[in-house]
Amino acid sequence: MHSVRKVTDDLYWVGANDHRLTLFENIHPIPQGVSYNAYLLKDEQTVLFDTVDWSACRQLLENLDYLLGDRQLDVLLINHMEPDHGASIEEILLRYPKCKVISTEKAFMFMRQFGFDIDEHELIEVSEGDTYCFGAHTVTFVSAPMVHWPEAMVTLDVTNGVLFSADAFGSFIALDGKLFNDEVNFDRDWLDEARRYYTNIVGKYGPQVQLLLGKAAAVLDKIKIICPLHGPVWHTELGYIIDKYQHWSTYTPEDSDGVMVVYASMYGNTESAAQALAAKLVERGVNNVRVYDVSNTHVSYLISETFRCSHIVLASVTYNLGIYPVIKNYLEDMKALNLQNRTFAIVENGSWACKSGDLMQKFLDEEMKNMTVLNERVSLSSALSSEKEAELDFMADAIADSVKSASET
Ligand code: FEO
Repeated sequence: MHSVRKVTDDLYWVGANDHRLTLFENIHPIPQGVSYNAYLLKDEQTVLFDTVDWSACRQLLENLDYLLGDRQLDVLLINHMEPDHGASIEEILLRYPKCKVISTEKAFMFMRQFGFDIDEHELIEVSEGDTYCFGAHTVTFVSAPMVHWPEAMVTLDVTNGVLFSADAFGSFIALDGKLFNDEVNFDRDWLDEARRYYTNIVGKYGPQVQLLLGKAAAVLDKIKIICPLHGPVWHTELGYIIDKYQHWSTYTPEDSDGVMVVYASMYGNTESAAQALAAKLVERGVNNVRVYDVSNTHVSYLISETFRCSHIVLASVTYNLGIYPVIKNYLEDMKALNLQNRTFAIVENGSWACKSGDLMQKFLDEEMKNMTVLNERVSLSSALSSEKEAELDFMADAIADSVKSASET
């Protein structure tokens, strides 16, 4: 059965929702699913903007059958070749043998690398600033390398201001009938998952996203609707999501007063200290505090929260004279995603050879960019003692002071 939504008078969402996939890119949990967005323009020529994951191909075909009726698909326009969007290209070309393909040089290279038989079709290679007319609608192409693959571009319909933004401005969570940003409570229900999508998938490429935002800023008055490849279509409050991207892509904390306490605890003693610290922070007026057990929180959630918060407390046991492996993985992921400009506090624990504090500090100082570590470290030997509690108070004071000054700047 077809399932389509109208975006404008002649543009339709023809994508699909996926509640079966448990791990996006086979690594990130998506408990609320994901949508693969594709769009069909019915102009003098019919144009499909991107395809969908292979698992959703049948839905895409039913949607196209329904909307095209007796018409053929004239053009397949590919903005991004990652298989969650590009996997159905060959099937579309088999169904519509006269279909032309518009994309970038690198995208055509990827199509051949993935084994797609494209060379019987007319291939139109485009680059930055080129335009193409489908009848009433003229589009222009803007290259968007590493947002989030090197071949990516975005396409602006200069006739009506629709921006086909590829992965940019996308989000996890299946649409489930809704389509537009004002059909959901984005700030309440979607923001965390949009951030988790951006930070884990595109987070490494902040400078490249900045480049794209700079190009978008030059034509911002012309952009009326943003059609990403995942999540809601933005037709109101474009400034809201652009502002989030501005923060995330410059590694600027969204919440200057946000503190996350991430603990690694084997028998509950480090956990107890982490909770005691959280309570002390709230007593000092720092209410935007969340505590995470690193061992049962998928690292993609920790990364997302680390992009949100200005302050991070790492509380870790020592393990085999090193950093607890799950904390180490979290730190390595932060580094891989280019995270920077945060303030840390360190709580270490070791019943006989306490090493984790020095090692975490060394990692932050030497492996990462522009990270500040507060001097007030707390070193525990097994359980938090009353004598050490005073040190935890000093740490809470230091974090509260730092949060206050971060919030004032
Ligand atoms: Fe949703 Fe980079 O693909």
